[in-house]
This record gives sequence, C-alpha cells and structure tokens, in this order.
Amino acid sequence: KLMTTMKKKVNPLWGGRFKIGASDLAQSFSSSVDVDKNLFEVDIKGSVAYAEILKEAKVINAKDLSKIKKGLNKILLEIREDRFNWDPALEDVHMNIESRLAEIAGASAKKLHTGRSRNDQVATDLRLFLMIRIDEILQTTTSLQKSILEQADKNYDVLLPGFTHLQIAQPVTLGHHLMAWYEMLSRDYSRLIDTKKRMDVMPLGSAALSGTRFNIDRKFLAKKLGFSEISRNSMDAVSDRDFVLELASSLSIIGIHLSRICEEIIIWSSKQFDYLELSDDVCTGSSIMPQKKNPDMAELIRGGTSKTIANLMGLLSLMKNLPLTYNRDMQEDKAYIFDSLDFSENSLALLGIVIDGMKPNVEKMKQDCFKGQITATDLADYLVEKNMPFRQAHEVVGKIVASAESKDKQIYELGIKDLRKFSKLIEEDVSAYLDPEITIKSRKQTGGTAPSQVKKEINSAKKSILKRAL
Ligand code: ARG
Repeated sequence: KLMTTMKKKVNPLWGGRFKIGASDLAQSFSSSVDVDKNLFEVDIKGSVAYAEILKEAKVINAKDLSKIKKGLNKILLEIREDRFNWDPALEDVHMNIESRLAEIAGASAKKLHTGRSRNDQVATDLRLFLMIRIDEILQTTTSLQKSILEQADKNYDVLLPGFTHLQIAQPVTLGHHLMAWYEMLSRDYSRLIDTKKRMDVMPLGSAALSGTRFNIDRKFLAKKLGFSEISRNSMDAVSDRDFVLELASSLSIIGIHLSRICEEIIIWSSKQFDYLELSDDVCTGSSIMPQKKNPDMAELIRGGTSKTIANLMGLLSLMKNLPLTYNRDMQEDKAYIFDSLDFSENSLALLGIVIDGMKPNVEKMKQDCFKGQITATDLADYLVEKNMPFRQAHEVVGKIVASAESKDKQIYELGIKDLRKFSKLIEEDVSAYLDPEITIKSRKQTGGTAPSQVKKEINSAKKSILKRAL
C-alpha cells in the first residue's frame, strides 16, 4: 500500500515538466533495457562520433570532447566486463549510458545530447547493429554452402531418385540435389546483401523528427560511422523500420529454406527411406526405446523456423498503423528481430554440422532409381526422337507402364517384343533410354543433372564462393 502511494522520483533525463515519476508498473512496463542493452557497443560508437562532430560544430570544446570520450570508453569496458549497473528505471540502453556518463564526466556529458534525440539515436544504433549481424550471417551462410559443396563434390555422380509430390519421378544425382540446396542459399546470401544496402543510410542528425539547427557535418559523421549515405528526410528517418522488416523477411526466407532442407534430411534418414545416416552428435535417443536415433536437430530447425515467420508477422503488424513520426510502439521491434537473428545464426551453423556429418547410403539411393517406372519420360523422349509427336508418345508409354505394372514389373524388365506391341518404332537401341545410369548423362544442358554438368556447376560455385568478401 505504501509503495503505491509513495511519489516516485522523476526520470532525471526527461523529468523537468513532471511532478511525480512513473508508477512502478508503468516503469517496468516501459523499460526495454533488458533487450536493447545488446546495442551498447554501437550506441557508444555512435556517441563518440557524435561528440567529435559536436566539437567540429563548436557546440562543445576539446576538453568536453576528451571527457566524453574517456567516459564512454570507461563505460564500454564496464559493460564488456559485466561491471555495469543496468537500471531498468532508466528505460533503455541510451539513458543508462548517458546517465552513467553524467556521473563520470559531469557537465561535459550533459552536452552530448545536443541536437540529438533518442529517436534518431536508436534508428542509427539499430542500423549499425543489424549491419554487423548481417555480416555474421553472411559468413555463416557461406560456411554452410561450403559444407554443401563438399558433399556435392563427393557425390556429384551418385544416382538418386528425384521426386515430385514425394513420388519417384526421374533419376538425378545426389550432387545435383545438394546443389539445389546451394542455390537456395545463394539467393539468401544476395538477399541479405540487398537488405544491407538499403539499411546503410544514417538517420543521425534527424533529431526528434524535424532535423537539427546545429551545424553538424552529417556526411562526415556518416563516414566516421561507416555509413554510405545519409537520410534525406528527418521525419521518414526516425519513423522508418523498413530495414527491420526486410531483414526479418530475408531471415524468414532463410528459415523456410533451412526447414525444407531439414525436412528432406528427416525423411531421408528414416528407416523407410534409408538414404542417410546422420552423425551421432546431432541426434538424440529415446528415453524408452533403446534402439532409437532421432534427427532432433533437423526437427528443431524445422520447428524453430516458425519463430522467424512469427517475428516477421509481429513486426509487420507492429508497424502497420503508425502515423509519422516516432511512436513508442516501435520499441517492440528489437525483441522480434534479435530473436530471428539468433535463431538464424544458430540454425545455419548447426545445419552445417549436420551436413558435414551425414553419410549417404549410395546403394539404397541407387536401388530406388530402378523403381517407380523412373525412366518412363526417357522412353517417351525416345519415341519423339523417332519422330512420334510427344503427346502421342506420352500416351503410348502410359500404356506400356500400365502393362508393366499389371505384371508387377518395371518397363526396363519388359522384353523388346513386349515393347514393340505398343510401337513398332521401338528397337534394340531403346535399352539406353531405360537405364537411369545412362539417361542421367543426357541432361547436359546448363542446369541439368548430367554428372558432367553437375561437376561444372560445383567447380564454378567453388570459384565464385572464393571471391566473396564474407
Ligand atoms: N527505447 C526507445 C526505442 O527503442 C528509444 C526511443 C525512445 N524515444 C522516445 N521518444 N521515447 O524505441
């Protein structure tokens, strides 16, 4: 009872016009420091550069600057070494650092926020932070792609049934299938590069919403902070979170790629398929069934992907009704995007370990290439090469398939006599069109599954991945 009637101290950083402080609940409800303290490195970096520019603009003098810089460096170490006293009542990372700076650097510290608002500060911090995290994810993506390349190289000519509708469709090579995963991730890589390009714009100098009257050199400030461009409209700059949405979207797409890859790994490692043996270090056992070895890591990546999608949905709905300019709702953005970043980073790395350790069961993959009438399309192609129109060839082969199935046979098991009952165009040379080991070699156009073509793609991927900066 006493607590609720007691008048709270007002926040010293914005409390001038307030008679009493926020209630306990309002204070804890609005505090974001638990989440946004992750921004401390970039927040301090931003403040150091901003102080330098204030000195250039003659808002502060050399002595102020040196005190501010020393203070900020001290705070940086305190936080890094876990000696910093985070106070939830000070709302966020920005005010925690600023108020500690006031303790260390006194009056000089109180000049640092001149012409700056937390609105342009947080937008700047978040962009800097996310650009660093994008670089990390780019690196992890590249290393996952290298794992895939290595497996693809080892298995470039290994026969594998290709599926549509999860039904055996046409023979491919395992290398070709793995290089499909590689392609998915290459698009993810370039999507992240694009995302970063649009993120690389500095809002600082927009102040609360209308810009600043102080003569700060924004271009120089941007250069110091490593931004390529500066924002052109202060109102847009403090209220824009497109860069968070785009990143969340790029991470969701990565998520669904990883999830789909994991789904295949889960199916392939089942005893029914028996295409893969996973390494023990990414599987778990059952507490009751002693024989079990379950692909839990792949399942958790598949399951956890929902978070990246949920986070994107959360962010989109967070932003959809906000009028210009800054609204406190936007503080909620960080928990979503940080969660997506952590999950993506971990699952990309983990999938790399799964793929490094997986042992394909080459024999079983090959066996399945002699099921499911897998070369039926090749037989139709054969008839086309003998001048039969494709639709007609499709019909003829359909009948051959039905006849084979009625005898519980594969079409390659039918004799030439049987085949000729359906078309006199069929001759001895048809055998080359019925053997998956031979037919895969015919898909040698760019993008096809011919082992020679797959090898080419692997080699060019190896070269291009070496040229990547990250
Ligand atoms: N913690 C806030 C956020 O992340 C910082 C900006 C606060 N600005 C304000 N006008 N209250 O959005």
